[in-house]
Amino acid sequence: MQRVRGSSPLSSTNEKPGALHRASRIRAPLAGGCRRISGPEHPPRAKSAFGEGRWHHVLMTATDSTPRTILEGTEAHIEATEKYAAHNYHPLPVVLAQGDGAWVIDVDGKRYLDCLAGYSALNFGHTNERLVAVAREQLGKLTLTSRAFYNDQLGGFAQALTRLTGKDMILPMNSGAEAVETAIKVSRKWGYEVKGVPAGQATIITMEGNFHGRTTTIVSFSDDDVATSGYAPFTTGFRGVKYGDVEAVASAIDETTVAVLFEPIQGEGGVVMPPEGFLKDLRQLCTERNVLMIADEIQSGLARSGKTFACDHEDVVPDIYIMGKALGGGIYPVSAIAADRHIMDVITPGSHGSTFGGNPLAAAIGTEVVAMLEEGTFQARSTEIGRQLEAGFSPLVGQGLSDVRVRGAWAGIDIDPTLMSGRQMSEALMARGILAKDTHGSTVRFAPPLVASDEDIAGLVTAVTEILAGR
Ligand SMILES: Cc1ncc(COP(=O)(O)O)c(C=O)c1O
Repeated sequence: MQRVRGSSPLSSTNEKPGALHRASRIRAPLAGGCRRISGPEHPPRAKSAFGEGRWHHVLMTATDSTPRTILEGTEAHIEATEKYAAHNYHPLPVVLAQGDGAWVIDVDGKRYLDCLAGYSALNFGHTNERLVAVAREQLGKLTLTSRAFYNDQLGGFAQALTRLTGKDMILPMNSGAEAVETAIKVSRKWGYEVKGVPAGQATIITMEGNFHGRTTTIVSFSDDDVATSGYAPFTTGFRGVKYGDVEAVASAIDETTVAVLFEPIQGEGGVVMPPEGFLKDLRQLCTERNVLMIADEIQSGLARSGKTFACDHEDVVPDIYIMGKALGGGIYPVSAIAADRHIMDVITPGSHGSTFGGNPLAAAIGTEVVAMLEEGTFQARSTEIGRQLEAGFSPLVGQGLSDVRVRGAWAGIDIDPTLMSGRQMSEALMARGILAKDTHGSTVRFAPPLVASDEDIAGLVTAVTEILAGR
């Protein structure tokens, strides 16, 4: 059902006490549905670009006649989304309205266990108390300064994140893709200025089956037809090799190679892990050949795999960490790369940036995320959930599953395609109050928030078992 109503008129009664613009400063409504406000902060000017007499700052546009759309019920929300938002996703037919820990509630009041956790952005759970408190406090203080000025949150965040990564410096951005782009730019610049690669010839080795984001440069080295079709021409300078094959990486490296970009675990690929020893071998190879090892830990990092970083499973430290998703606690997009000074120093004023990157709200949330990770409890819980998932899913291989991959609270199950597709499994789970996402046809991955209880995970395992058994 869809209703359209006018907004309530602004009056002195609905202004918060202490609000910057008080009702007493509101003058007559402008023709065209706007209210004009003037006051000491906005002194009248004799003339302006708006013409004689239109000197007030227009600060509010709400009037009685401003249309507000109120949507009620699952169908109305889906209909409006499908009609007015581009179809770049194929969501399950559930409309979520609230979240708490590992659970979400839809607009009809039905509860679901969230086993996607915002593609691991919600490692600490929905509406995490500590993170929400920090965000709320910062929202009321200062949200954006741009990097034209310093702010009182970024320095502390940068220091905390260098402590967590063991690196000298960070470069903050917003989305994951932006952080990947940043790593690409830094490694190319490092290649030209430090390694001595001839101008314009830098190459970066990438992995087959990768997922690093959606920008035109990033999809240029994707081998997913759906992600690339129609977006040519692509950025050059990338060489794809088989994931997990260190010999293939070695053969692809030449004097133009500046970096190897890889996911320690391929999340979108279906929780795919490289053969044991690959990370260690890659580390050695990169050091020997003077090539930067860039680990995209956007999805695998920050406790998802049972360790702070997935590279920690082989005690490997890359040259550049790329982080995102959970760095913003699922509240706000926060991403960053971390590297040592001799690499990061290639970045000079004006050579890279972002209006929102490193803003005080992002930095405040990020600082709390780091504090939570430094306590180690989320990593431990992730490992525990992983044990439970492994014990629950492994016996299903041959009983409807062809493969199970688990690392921490992160599992990919491959369903026998003759039984059902990944999408069908996701729909069947949804009917039982569990949300998960399929990938590559017959795979479903599970990444519950790390605050999920033993009971929650047991419920997930039972549901998958019963669906496969046709019950
Ligand atoms: C490994 C990896 N890198 C990069 C990205 C892109 O992040 P974002 O969607 O925030 O741009 C993702 C997103 O799923 C990812 O999993």
